[in-house]
Amino acid sequence: MGSGTGKSHSFLIKAAQIAHKDPYARIHCFDTKQISFEVLHGIPGIFIYDNPVTEMDRIWDGLYSIARLTESRYTAVREKRKKLSDFPDEWVFVDEGNDLGDRLKTYWTKTLGNTSASPAIWPEAIAAILRQGRQANVFGEWMFQDLTDRAMGGQSLKFAFGGFCAAGFLPNQFARTVGTPAEECLEGPGRILVCQGNKRTWTQGFLGDEQWLHDYALENRKGMRYEAA
Ligand SMILES: Nc1ncnc2c1ncn2[C@@H]1O[C@H](COP(=O)(O)OP(=O)(O)OP(=O)(O)O)[C@@H](O)[C@H]1O
Ligand SMILES: [Mg+2]
Repeated sequence: MGSGTGKSHSFLIKAAQIAHKDPYARIHCFDTKQISFEVLHGIPGIFIYDNPVTEMDRIWDGLYSIARLTESRYTAVREKRKKLSDFPDEWVFVDEGNDLGDRLKTYWTKTLGNTSASPAIWPEAIAAILRQGRQANVFGEWMFQDLTDRAMGGQSLKFAFGGFCAAGFLPNQFARTVGTPAEECLEGPGRILVCQGNKRTWTQGFLGDEQWLHDYALENRKGMRYEAA
């Protein structure tokens, strides 16, 4: 939610921790504001989609590719051709979801020439990533300044999330997004309220030096090769 609360930095920390701990995991980072994942460029197995000006097609296709991967894994497990443990973890981090939603809408109308207001990518691709992801080892965290159905292409996808983290919010914004009773916000960078079901826990995120995070993310992946999704 609120600005300057450490949301982007918490993505960086998580991505670096996963990259370090699980060299087989692929990590897909979407950020249409182009700054959040800067230090993770050039690390094998971390795919960064952060150029909405000239590479909106890559962002669009990237989400569809992850959706296809999710659905094919899900089907293979359902049909007992594969076990879930056959698949490495796949992480999808999306910073600035509201901005992404606006840009997908513009791409849908201006570049792809559609006349309907809601881009098909929400029901066709993103819904699959969110709904089937957990049964396919595809895990996602999405950041929205304001999590509404409108921001998600008019789809009721909010309940596909397993939990919510909130930071820098006003009480009515919290109640509208997560539910009542509204929580009082603790201010300060890295202060995040983790909400799962009825349980709410205030946490304090780490702050990491960017070069250190880069080196830490790279350490166990040097020389590794990963296919794109
Ligand atoms: N866990 C933390 N502990 C202390 N300081 C932090 C922490 N996380 C972030 N900060 C500080 O807060 C600043 C803003 O962090 P960040 O860019 O992650 O916020 P944000 O919520 O993504 O902001 P925006 O809404 O502008 O995108 C950082 O530059 C950093 O100095
Ligand atoms: Mg940010």
